[in-house]
Amino acid sequence: MISNRFSSFFSFFDYTPTQWFDIGKSRLIDYTLLIMIVRKAKIDDVKAINALINSYAEHDKMLFRSIADIYENLQTFSVVELDGKIIGCCALQIIWEDLAEIKSLAVDKPHTGKGAGKILIEAAVAQAEQINLPKVFALTLTPDFFEKAGFEIVEKDTLPMKVWTDCAKCPKQKNCDEIAVTKDLK
Ligand SMILES: CC(C)(COP(=O)(O)OP(=O)(O)OC[C@H]1O[C@@H](n2cnc3c(N)ncnc32)[C@H](O)[C@@H]1OP(=O)(O)O)[C@@H](O)C(=O)NCCC(=O)NCCS
Repeated sequence: MISNRFSSFFSFFDYTPTQWFDIGKSRLIDYTLLIMIVRKAKIDDVKAINALINSYAEHDKMLFRSIADIYENLQTFSVVELDGKIIGCCALQIIWEDLAEIKSLAVDKPHTGKGAGKILIEAAVAQAEQINLPKVFALTLTPDFFEKAGFEIVEKDTLPMKVWTDCAKCPKQKNCDEIAVTKDLK
């Protein structure tokens, strides 16, 4: 549904009940229409992306990304914007001719459970498909989330050596508790 349309943007509606009115026996809900947009990251988004990722990294839920690292790799990032605020981010990093990594996927805690993570994954997969990549993978502590998006759990040693460059920066190193998930696109 989303694939092939990533070059522009996609949106869906998030209805948040903001006020309840009691009028006699009837109860009316005033809905504020908020639009969630997935788009490629822009230079002004870097600090928000950094804060989002590091809010989880501080709790060992993902790897830190420095401001400098995000600037260097900004073209790999997509973001979800809600009401003018960045509430989610995700990067698609090409590893080799046949593989890309979905990394740095984070949704701002108060906005989880509203589908932002799902549309970020779908956007990353659509981007990979657009450039004819046959497979994407992720290393994650939340494999169930990826399985819901059509990924399958694989043994980490089935991934090529080049995947492990980030491990040198990771404090866990040999105690890695991340699970590898992959999705075939062809
Ligand atoms: C994991 C994360 C990205 C999910 O984002 P989200 O916006 O809450 O996810 P969505 O609302 O799009 O959920 C999509 C589906 O996945 C499910 N899901 C969400 N988080 C899940 C989790 N931690 N475990 C299992 N399933 C999960 C939802 O229930 C939903 O299922 P449904 O389609 O059957 O309704 C978010 O919780 C997060 O940023 N976590 C911290 C960082 C992290 O773990 N990143 C993952 C990769 S390193």
